[in-house]
Amino acid sequence: MDGFLGDYYLWVKALHVIAAIATMAGMLYLPRLFIYHCDAEAGSKQSETFKVMERRLLRAIINPAMTVAMILGLMLAADLDAWSEGWMQAKLALFLALGAVHGYFSRWRRDFAADENRHTAKFYRYMNEIPTVLMIGIVILVIVKPF
Ligand code: HEM
Repeated sequence: MDGFLGDYYLWVKALHVIAAIATMAGMLYLPRLFIYHCDAEAGSKQSETFKVMERRLLRAIINPAMTVAMILGLMLAADLDAWSEGWMQAKLALFLALGAVHGYFSRWRRDFAADENRHTAKFYRYMNEIPTVLMIGIVILVIVKPF
């Protein structure tokens, strides 16, 4: 590893993958909570419990893990000087799409918190698939490096 990370490259990559796993665990679980929350009456004990779970999942797990995954990923990319690599550019594009999905999840969480959810459980089932597809693309791009 002859970039600026030197012997720490693999440690940084390991921490990057750990943060990426935590990010995806949260991004795949949050829409599941939205699906169940749709069936809970506004103001009920169950709905209030879902609000706490959604807030903690987003703020205590997804937000910090995604930030760490991004910072360490950018360090790895800088070490490799991979910016002109096709796989890196495509991975960054999918990560930006994951960021956009994160933005919508944050907004829908706020709507639930204000008892103003406007979507159906079916809608959130479809939304649940998007982070899955993005994750599959991201992992194939970085491991296979097809272009
Ligand atoms: C700004 C966001 C990101 C950047 C800049 C980035 C960049 C990188 C770079 C440069 C590597 C090292 C590649 C190598 O050593 O061959 C890497 C490894 C990896 N990244 Fe990311 N990454 C980002 C986000 C993610 C996300 C969100 C995931 C998962 C969903 C992810 C999954 C992985 C995996 C599994 C590896 C290990 C690949 C291997 O060992 O061959 N990354 N990333």
